[in-house]
Amino acid sequence: MSCLEIKGGRKLHGEVEIHGAKNSVLPLLAATFLCDGQSVLYNCPELSDVKASLEILKGLGSSYIREGDTVIITSGESKICEIPDVLMREMRSSIVFMGAVAAKCGSVTLSLPGGCELGPRPIDLHIDALKRLGASFEANKGKITCSFPDGIKASDIHLKFPSVGATENAIFTAVMGRGTTVIYNAAREPEIADVCAFLNKAGASILGGGTDTVVINGVKSLHGVEHKVMPDRIIAATCMFALGACGGKISLRNIIFEHLQPMVNILKDSGCDVQNLDDSIVLSSNFRLSNFDTVTTQPYPGFPTDAGPLLVAMSSVTKGTGVFIENIFDSRFRYIDELKRLGADIKTVGKVAIVTGIPKLRGAKVHSCDLRGGAALTVAALSAEGTSVVTNVEYIDRGYQRIEDIFGALNADIKRRWS
Ligand code: EPZ
Repeated sequence: MSCLEIKGGRKLHGEVEIHGAKNSVLPLLAATFLCDGQSVLYNCPELSDVKASLEILKGLGSSYIREGDTVIITSGESKICEIPDVLMREMRSSIVFMGAVAAKCGSVTLSLPGGCELGPRPIDLHIDALKRLGASFEANKGKITCSFPDGIKASDIHLKFPSVGATENAIFTAVMGRGTTVIYNAAREPEIADVCAFLNKAGASILGGGTDTVVINGVKSLHGVEHKVMPDRIIAATCMFALGACGGKISLRNIIFEHLQPMVNILKDSGCDVQNLDDSIVLSSNFRLSNFDTVTTQPYPGFPTDAGPLLVAMSSVTKGTGVFIENIFDSRFRYIDELKRLGADIKTVGKVAIVTGIPKLRGAKVHSCDLRGGAALTVAALSAEGTSVVTNVEYIDRGYQRIEDIFGALNADIKRRWS
C-alpha cells in the first residue's frame, strides 16, 4: 500500500502535459478486440485500469506490448469468450468488453459488475440495448452470458438515459451487425467520439459519434489501426481546481479547450484568469476565489460528475457558500467526511453538498475511498497549511499516471511513501 505525503500551502507554478484519457483508452482497448491484426494506441497512460484492461484482452487471446506511452495490441482468432471474475471485480467498467466480445465471438460470459465505491453499477441499459440487436441473456450464479443465436440484427435503440457504457456497448455490437442501427439519446461524452473515430479508421461506418444520435452501418470485418488517445479532461480539471485551491499560475499542455468549458466557466466566474492558447491553457489566480452559487452534475456537455469532488475540494477554501448537486452516482460523497478532517465546512443532504469556504484547511491524515475522491483529498492537502498524508493511493493510480509527478511539476511538495 502507498500513501502521499504532502506539505501544503504552496502556490502552484509550472507546466504539465495532460496524458491520455482513461475513459477513452478503456473502450478503445475493447474496440481493438473487434479488429483483425495489429492496432497501435499512442498517448496511452500507464494506469492500473489500463493494465487490467490489457490483461482482459490477453485472457481473450490478444497479445500486447508497451513501449513507453505506446501500446501495440494484436488480436486474432479468439477461442476464449469469457472475462475472468477476478478482472471483472478489479474493474467494474470491464462491462464495456461485453458488446465487443459478444460481437466477435458470438457470445460472452462475464460476472455481473455488481457495485463499486460509487454505489450500485446496474447494467439494465446495456442489456436492453443489446437485446434490441438480437442478444439473449442467461444469468447463472452471478455470471451472465450474452449471445446472438441468430446473429446481430440492426435495429433502432432508444436509451432511457444517455449511459456512456451502454452507448459504447451498443456501438461495439451494431458495428458488426447486418444493416443500419440508430442509437437515440446516446451519450455525447467526447470519449465516445474518440472511439468512433478509431472504429471508422478501422473500416466501420459510424455517423454522429459524440452526438445524441449515432447511425451505424454494420460491416463484416474491421482491421487494426493507429490512433492517438485524446487528452484526459478530468486530469486537466483536477489541475485547474488545484490551481483555484492553491493560487499561482500554471500551464496545461495537450488539452482540448471545448472539453474543459464547464470547468473554465466556473473558474472564470470565481475570479480566476484563464487564457485559451488552443492546445494549451494558462490559468492564474491570486487565491481565495469566490465560491460558485450552484453546480449540478449532468451528462456531457454538462458539468462532469468525475470533476465534482475536485470542485468541492477547491470550493472548501473559497469565499462564500456553494451548493453542489450530484445527479449521476448514488455514493459520490464518501470523500466529504475525509475533507472535513482537513477542516472543510460541508453539510450533505442526500445528493446535495453545501460548501462554506474557509480561509485555510489544515493538514491531517486522510483516507482515499475512490478514484476521484482520492484526487480531491490530494487537491485539498496541497492547499492545506502543514503536512497531510493521503492513504490508499491505489485508488488514485487507477486514473492518474503518477499524480505525484503531475503536481510535482507544478511546484508542489508531494512524495509517495510505501506504508
Ligand atoms: C463512465 O461510467 C465513466 N467510466 C465514469 O468515470 C463516468 O463517471 C460516467 O461514465 C459518467 O460520465 C468510464 O468511461 C470507464 P454511465 P459508466 O453508464 O459508463 C446509471 C471515473 O471516475 N446506469 O453513464 O459506468 C449509473 O448507475 C469513472 O473515471 C444505469 O442505471 O457511466 C449511473 O447512475 C467513474 N443502468 C448513470 O447511469 C445502466 O445500465 C451513469 O452511468 C448503466 C448506467
